[in-house]
Amino acid sequence: MSVRVILCGACGKMGGNVLSLLMGDGEAVAVCGVDLYPKEIGIPVYKSFAEIKEEADVIIDFSSPIGLKERLEYAKTHGLGIVLASTGFSSEDLKTVDEYAKSVAIFKTANLSLGVNLMQALVKAAAQVLGDQFDIEIIEKHHNLKKDAPSGTALMLAESVNEAFESKKDYVNGRNGIVGARTKSEIGIHAVRGGTIVGEHEVMFAGEDEIITISHSARSKRVFAAGAIRAAKFLSGKAAGKYEMQDLLAEENN
Ligand SMILES: NC(=O)c1ccc[n+]([C@@H]2O[C@H](COP(=O)([O-])OP(=O)(O)OC[C@H]3O[C@@H](n4cnc5c(N)ncnc54)[C@H](O)[C@@H]3O)[C@@H](O)[C@H]2O)c1
Repeated sequence: MSVRVILCGACGKMGGNVLSLLMGDGEAVAVCGVDLYPKEIGIPVYKSFAEIKEEADVIIDFSSPIGLKERLEYAKTHGLGIVLASTGFSSEDLKTVDEYAKSVAIFKTANLSLGVNLMQALVKAAAQVLGDQFDIEIIEKHHNLKKDAPSGTALMLAESVNEAFESKKDYVNGRNGIVGARTKSEIGIHAVRGGTIVGEHEVMFAGEDEIITISHSARSKRVFAAGAIRAAKFLSGKAAGKYEMQDLLAEENN
């Protein structure tokens, strides 16, 4: 039987990409959507979860942190898994996610592409080898409509880098004014916004007389939509808990 999906943020850019991929997918189907601003998109779209009439297995969420609790509560009471692909969550939101993970299967990642998952491992390995001798800066670039900054992926990459260090580095978002000399205890994170850039991430290790750059460029949003559908299929029938790309890849490669 197909995995039945509720699409939260159905009328947005990512919602549209997921919906069009699901149209040609024999193993998963979109049964309805939820969006603050419903539009005609070929499936029923509701303004809130309370209005949903369809039965489902998984929620794919590409909306915003607003309404997080409503989404998680719906998943809990209806026994659904949820792919949380929205970004920009506060530390309070993350605590809520951890609390719900005790009773809901939650797949959460700020980046659903295979390439960025590999990049996380690469930047950690580079940081382990290079240590404090190289300054680490992260530059991310996105389209001019993106609401949160820095991107969830930039923060995820910063965390991967930090895993290499016993004494964790602080994140410094952009620099402005007389900030003084750069310290070894910082990771600079810079957000560029413009045009229709899908998503570029660069982790730069700047040493004396040499620079190593590890970068990823998403050429279309379809890569994330495809990842979300893979995650929804992976999550269907899973026990409560928190899952991420590495769990999915481990299962797919078994
Ligand atoms: N994890 C990933 O790999 C990945 C990839 C791309 C985008 N994203 C994230 O997905 C989210 C959506 O991106 P987008 O480009 O589609 O944005 P978008 O603005 O085009 O679409 C968001 C849609 O969600 C709706 N929405 C917003 N808040 C809502 C709420 N509380 N309840 C119901 N609907 C709501 C909006 O009306 C809109 O239609 C962003 O947070 C973005 O950063 C994540």
